Amino acid sequence: MYVIEINNLSKRFRNTIALQEVSLTVKRGEIFGLLGPNGSGKTTLIRCLLGLIRPTSGSATLFNQYDIVRDMYEIRKRSSLLPQEANCVEMLTARENILYQGGIHSGDVIPKEELEKRTDELLEVVELVDRQHELTKTFSGGMKRRVMVASTLITDPDLIFLDEPTTGIDILGAQTIRTLIQNLSSQNKSIFLTTHDLTDINELCDRVAIIVNGRIIALGTPADLEVEHNVQDIKDVYTKLVRKARLEATIKT
Ligand SMILES: Nc1ncnc2c1ncn2[C@@H]1O[C@H](COP(=O)(O)OP(=O)(O)O)[C@@H](O)[C@H]1O
Ligand SMILES: [Mg+2]
Repeated sequence: MYVIEINNLSKRFRNTIALQEVSLTVKRGEIFGLLGPNGSGKTTLIRCLLGLIRPTSGSATLFNQYDIVRDMYEIRKRSSLLPQEANCVEMLTARENILYQGGIHSGDVIPKEELEKRTDELLEVVELVDRQHELTKTFSGGMKRRVMVASTLITDPDLIFLDEPTTGIDILGAQTIRTLIQNLSSQNKSIFLTTHDLTDINELCDRVAIIVNGRIIALGTPADLEVEHNVQDIKDVYTKLVRKARLEATIKT
């Protein structure tokens, strides 16, 4: 079963073509990585899939049955997003941040009585039990990101969108986030993450799509792509393809 099936999705903003005929599928339980430089269309694709913006053309189906434009509500009940620029509410403690996020959904997706219990569990998952009563403004970038991940998980989503989850935090912080993502995947959650960090791809992703200028230029397992392009490392695939795509874009303009 596909949790995500995208067919020829395009998105144009006035003069910018942000996505060009993107097609890909994500299987249940998979960690799928969308790898691309800044401005390549990663966030735009996530926003389309969650019904936050409408595609200009093309379509996508989530959970084998929900159309991204028509069934936005059903999709949001079953999925969750860690936005790229997400931040904690710094005047609240770690625990309060998670509860606050849960409160927004309570009575809707989460029964109120379950909220406290689930918050306890999530604090364990992100390893912040002993710091839960401290204000998040005192936290490191990596700890804040973990609070945000826990907040994202409060609705117990089957599909989790993580927009650059490891960007902007230090190496150890990023490594902790990667372990967390692996643990989620082993609970059969499906994960769609974006990154421009090749470590994320090498250590996390079952399959990867490389996107440049809104177009998918490679798709497969990291190992398949290495074989296909006759190189030792996904880094070389990326460098080769991004350079080529940029060169072609320069020739066209
Ligand atoms: N709301 C918007 N209005 C106009 N242009 C936008 C908007 N959102 C994104 N873009 C443009 O679309 C392209 C892709 O952006 P984005 O999806 O944010 O890239 P990424 O997440 O890969 O860095 C960029 O050229 C960006 O400037
Ligand atoms: Mg982005």
